[in-house]
Amino acid sequence: MKEVRVAIIGGGMISHRHMTIYENMRKYAADLGFTAKVVAVAEIDEAKLKRWGEQYGFDEKDLYVDFREMLKRDDIDCVDVCVHNNLHTPISIEVMKRGYDCYTEKPAAASYHDAKMMIDASKALGRKFHVQISSIMTPQSRVARDMIAGGELGDIYYVNLEAVNRARRPGYDLPMFTTDFYTKKIAGHGMAIDLGIYLISQILFITGLPELESVSGFAKQGMEMNPKLITDPEGFGVEDLADGFAKFKNGMGFHFLTGAAAHYKDYAMTYVLGSKGGLEIIATDQGGGKLARRGGMAEFAVPGGMMNPELIFHGTQGGRDVDIELKCDYNGNIEQRLDPSKLLYNDNQCMWHAYRLGILNDETRYNTPEIALRMLQFTDGIFMSQELGRAVTADEIIANSPTLYVPEQEIGGELVKFDVEF
Ligand SMILES: NC(=O)c1ccc[n+]([C@@H]2O[C@H](COP(=O)([O-])OP(=O)(O)OC[C@H]3O[C@@H](n4cnc5c(N)ncnc54)[C@H](O)[C@@H]3O)[C@@H](O)[C@H]2O)c1
Repeated sequence: MKEVRVAIIGGGMISHRHMTIYENMRKYAADLGFTAKVVAVAEIDEAKLKRWGEQYGFDEKDLYVDFREMLKRDDIDCVDVCVHNNLHTPISIEVMKRGYDCYTEKPAAASYHDAKMMIDASKALGRKFHVQISSIMTPQSRVARDMIAGGELGDIYYVNLEAVNRARRPGYDLPMFTTDFYTKKIAGHGMAIDLGIYLISQILFITGLPELESVSGFAKQGMEMNPKLITDPEGFGVEDLADGFAKFKNGMGFHFLTGAAAHYKDYAMTYVLGSKGGLEIIATDQGGGKLARRGGMAEFAVPGGMMNPELIFHGTQGGRDVDIELKCDYNGNIEQRLDPSKLLYNDNQCMWHAYRLGILNDETRYNTPEIALRMLQFTDGIFMSQELGRAVTADEIIANSPTLYVPEQEIGGELVKFDVEF
């Protein structure tokens, strides 16, 4: 049994989910021939670092304020980057420059430009790189992708995706989340990229990653807010509603609407229309997959959320209209019991380590960095279109995608200027 030695950068909320998944991998993934163990963690907040160490029984020598010190060790195989959005780019690039393969939390970054830098760095430095996109690692997503690729729905010409929340601004409506979710500097954008990574990526994945042609978009921080509830000195800097319409070169139209807060009701509605059949997507995993579910966050449901990702097929059988429940979750469980290697496609962290170890390769793993990049091309298009007051082309988005990553940060009393040259 190969045991991979992992280091984590960022000991916040999501790092605990990574720990749960590693614990569950040891329990449920023994048949895969490998497991993973976190051996060191870096966290700039010393009190948080201490608590983290106590919670998991770590020695003080394995706890670091400065991640660059941790990366000097010679007993780490790879690194999980669990810091916030606009820190993903400089820290992941630094990790890869120091010779480590890198797994980063979603969204890869807040802009196409920044995610592209990470992909370019991984290629130039010969390091493996993967992004957390749990929504595509479900039986639901695979069944939809296979049906579409197999022509069961005919030509896909339209997708509608709407996920609107009455009050779900992390850090504002939901104080258990950090306010970094809503500051412009650290988050970059709001719900469009926060949950958008799960929702848009799933559509791009199941429809075969079509080439974008143009985007028309609208984004706004529209709801009145109570200043007393905005606890971050930087203020609330991201949209609470985003809407985009993308046209793809294969002729597909894709409407995307997400609201983190609205004077309306919680609802979600996603459907894919093909010339021969349609699919309704019922709930999309946004919770890190099954190995992440152990009470706590697992019970955190949002509209269109993570609890029972399923599909309904709408089409015809023998000339008659039918609506068929596909029971993806049930069938997926049976498939995985019959063939435990299916777990490689049902969990991000299993896929990541299998890819690192050569059990999966560039063809057989899901290319999460590329999917994350294409998703950010769409969301950049929404924000660019809003700013310019017109639709923007895919080429324009690539040429004008902004640099949003944080260039410097205070770590252990020192102002560290990140060097992203590679
Ligand atoms: N919280 C969730 O439910 C959730 C779910 C999925 C994905 N994510 C993603 O995970 C990322 C982190 O979110 P979170 O909720 O865990 O935030 P968080 O603020 O709880 O955790 C991030 C931690 O990184 C630390 N940090 C910042 N710079 C650092 C550095 N240079 N070195 C070491 N530590 C550093 C911060 O002090 C903080 O403790 C975000 O990009 C988010 O989108 C979060």
